[in-house]
Amino acid sequence: MKNVTFKVKRYNPETKETRFQDYKVEVDESEVVLDALIRVREYQDETLAVRCSCRSAICGSCGIKVNGHAVLACKTKIADVTRDGKTEVTVEPFGNTKSVKDLVSDMQPFWSKVRQVQPWLKATQPPPAREYIASADAMQDLVGTMNCIMCGCCVSDCTVLEVDKNFIGPAALAKAYRFVADPRETDAARDERLKELSKYGGIWDCTHCLECVQVCPKGVAPMERILDTRRAAMEAGYKDNNGSRHSDSFANSVKHSGALNELRLLPESLGLDDVDAQLKFMPTALRAAVKRKVPPIIHKKRPGAEHVKRIFDEMEKH
Ligand code: SF4
Ligand code: SF4
Ligand code: FES
Repeated sequence: MKNVTFKVKRYNPETKETRFQDYKVEVDESEVVLDALIRVREYQDETLAVRCSCRSAICGSCGIKVNGHAVLACKTKIADVTRDGKTEVTVEPFGNTKSVKDLVSDMQPFWSKVRQVQPWLKATQPPPAREYIASADAMQDLVGTMNCIMCGCCVSDCTVLEVDKNFIGPAALAKAYRFVADPRETDAARDERLKELSKYGGIWDCTHCLECVQVCPKGVAPMERILDTRRAAMEAGYKDNNGSRHSDSFANSVKHSGALNELRLLPESLGLDDVDAQLKFMPTALRAAVKRKVPPIIHKKRPGAEHVKRIFDEMEKH
């Protein structure tokens, strides 16, 4: 047994006051953080609000931040968060959401984003006389995504949502992929989804920070699913957007010179014929020039660029 101090961020909705409160708990290191919080609520402070249900990493209701990262409290061993002799653990409600009280976060915006991607199958109508048939291989690709328990850990730690609430977010976008890749979805429905997901706030707004992959307790790897959806959208022809042009410009310059041509990246991403968008970036470009932060005007081929091109050519065959 070991004494651990849980520094819990509390929020009182009546007074709107936020503060940290320390609770000292005697714990067995094999216990999980939720065990300690429930013990606090049962024996030290019945006003502490904690949400949980299954206590088995299934229902997704006990998401909180522990030592700065989103976790399921019922899956997080105390031994893992008190390594190297630590005796203090910081416990907070989710990021990118408002607290309803203490550790209970308001998940309403989370569910609105999930509804926004229309998380249901749009299969051929009228339905077949028996069941819709999907091959085992095709469904295999979806198994990872179907493991999502809608806990919201990925949304809590998403770095884009911190600055842009319009971003649909990793959980809802991973859910969207689940239907984009479902072989039973009609072509028209899939196309419509990809068109919607390519707009502002969708798949192109992720910055690949990997946070959602790291914190997801179910291995869904939402960022990977976003990248899969991007590929599907580009293959379906939805390329008239900054993200798609950015991706093409990046790949083309690396393919042909072995390195990124930074000078072309921004104008090509904005669209060479979009003069208004180009002009908006002029003040930033001038400031960068004054500080001598501009890339070389002449972009030279790197030695060995032909090998890089060969890799691209090989990949493009598949
Ligand atoms: S990888 Fe993308 S979706 Fe995932 S947390 Fe980072 S910005 Fe958000
Ligand atoms: S993708 Fe992972 S972290 Fe995000 S809601 Fe689903 S299970 Fe939770
Ligand atoms: S209590 Fe259900 S996932 Fe933690």
